[in-house]
Amino acid sequence: AGTLGAAAAQSGRYFGTAIAASRLGDSTYATVAAREFNMVTAENEMKPDATEPQRGQFSFNSGDQIYNWATQRGLKVRGHTLAWHAQQPGWMQSLGGSALRQAMIDHINGVMAHYRGKLAAWDVVNEAFAENGSRRSSNLQSTGNDWIEVAFRTARAADPSVKLCYNDYNIENWTYAKTQGVYNMIKDFKSRGVPIDCVGLQTHFTGGSSLPSNFQTTLSSFAALGVDVALTEVDVTNASTSQYAGLTQACVNVPRCIGITVWGVRDGDSWRSSESPLLFDNGGNKKAAYTSVLNALNAA
Ligand code: G3I
Repeated sequence: AGTLGAAAAQSGRYFGTAIAASRLGDSTYATVAAREFNMVTAENEMKPDATEPQRGQFSFNSGDQIYNWATQRGLKVRGHTLAWHAQQPGWMQSLGGSALRQAMIDHINGVMAHYRGKLAAWDVVNEAFAENGSRRSSNLQSTGNDWIEVAFRTARAADPSVKLCYNDYNIENWTYAKTQGVYNMIKDFKSRGVPIDCVGLQTHFTGGSSLPSNFQTTLSSFAALGVDVALTEVDVTNASTSQYAGLTQACVNVPRCIGITVWGVRDGDSWRSSESPLLFDNGGNKKAAYTSVLNALNAA
């Protein structure tokens, strides 16, 4: 197939991108995005600061802009994200204890009610682990260690049809402490019946020309717990073709790796724009890494 989305679909997968609502008026951006991808993640527009700027007052204008743009073009949408230590609205940052716990629950219910039945997945909880494999300290963590499972149980009740994901970065290397910390939480959740369907590995790769050699082991190990896995925010320093090919190959080698999302369309659209980490240059032209990804998808 001749596009990333169509190539991924041949093996039942998707290929997505982060979309920024503010760029949709850029015709090169919109044309490339609609042509190449079949899944979309809102880069910022469905985060807590965007969707509940004042307590109890929800705002879905920019999130809906992305949702409508995508679905009108046949692209599906992943929700990102409901509970996170960062990009909280100011009113939430200043809460703690039971008031924050309740605010988190209310936030999940309010946002998920709006998108009920419409999304492919939600990143229910984002980036809750520290590099040493313990829980990251945050106002949410201070409400009690059970905040993550409360978030997932709330989410399942709010929209039983959507896949519920835990999403994090630096969990690609199987022997890394953070990977093991997340793995043990997922294992515990599955053993106790806490509702969780998927793990998102952000896959922000830096430096070097090779992947962690055990990346595929990480994907298959999570999958063996009974969850889907997805690469959710891929970007790679200088768009190393071998790293892009390798991460794509690792996903297609694992049956429960359901899709790959790159974190932006053109290099200049990236939060790491100085590293030229994406698949299209600033003119919207395909880079060498694009071809390496497309070939790996087509060979799957
Ligand atoms: O929209 C305002 C604009 O009005 C203002 O003038 C400008 C001045 O700084 O800021 C703009 O907001 C910025 C926003 O991106 C939109 O461009 C924020 O400052 C900036 O902090 C925000 O950065 C986002 C970052 O998350 C914040 O945590 C990036 O775009 C976004 O790519 C990034 O995405 C995260 C994932 O959600 C989670 N994983 C890591 C990933 C990369 O950091």
